[in-house]
Amino acid sequence: MATEKPTPVDKEIELDNTKYIESETDIHGNITDCNDYFAEISGYTKDELIGSPHNIVRHPDMPKIIFKELWERIKNGHNITAVIKNMAKDGRYYWVFTHFEIIRDINTKEIKGYRAYRKMVSPHIKRVLDPLYKRLVEIEKSDGVEGSKKALEEFLKEGGEHVTIDNLMEEIHRFY
Ligand SMILES: Cc1cc2nc3c(=O)[nH]c(=O)nc-3n(C[C@H](O)[C@H](O)[C@H](O)COP(=O)(O)O)c2cc1C
Repeated sequence: MATEKPTPVDKEIELDNTKYIESETDIHGNITDCNDYFAEISGYTKDELIGSPHNIVRHPDMPKIIFKELWERIKNGHNITAVIKNMAKDGRYYWVFTHFEIIRDINTKEIKGYRAYRKMVSPHIKRVLDPLYKRLVEIEKSDGVEGSKKALEEFLKEGGEHVTIDNLMEEIHRFY
């Protein structure tokens, strides 16, 4: 397990578009398993990753509202997609198009954890989301998560009435 949080460095880590970054967590978001590519990109060893909370790679540019919405959906058993900016151990960042899946107990069907597969994000999506997320982080400082949620909904309205946080997370790939 690793404890110290790095200082962000404004340099991007490019991902290999043929590879997935994979991880599994318990119901609280503590990492229970991951693949070698996650360790390679994040700069943490598998030993450091496994047993750590998944916010080990949380980037300060990520607004709280995205994680709040994400958890509401997965806790209710919905597979979803989100675009996340993560921070590696050396402070550099990498964007990931993340698909979340629910792991259920074979017998009881209860949720026993979650799995995430991550792919590289296209430059266009990064150009749209980077300023949006940074703006939401600023709004959270003054108006809290509720203010940020309103701003996110306003932004999505510009994409058309049918674009909601719900379908953004369920079908994000169709909008970009
Ligand atoms: C399967 C799974 C994968 C996750 N992957 C990431 C991730 O790649 N980056 C990230 O910042 N948070 C990820 N999270 C969300 C974290 O658990 C956490 O909610 C988030 O980092 C916000 O942390 P905070 O509440 O301490 O601010 C993941 C959660 C789950 C269940």
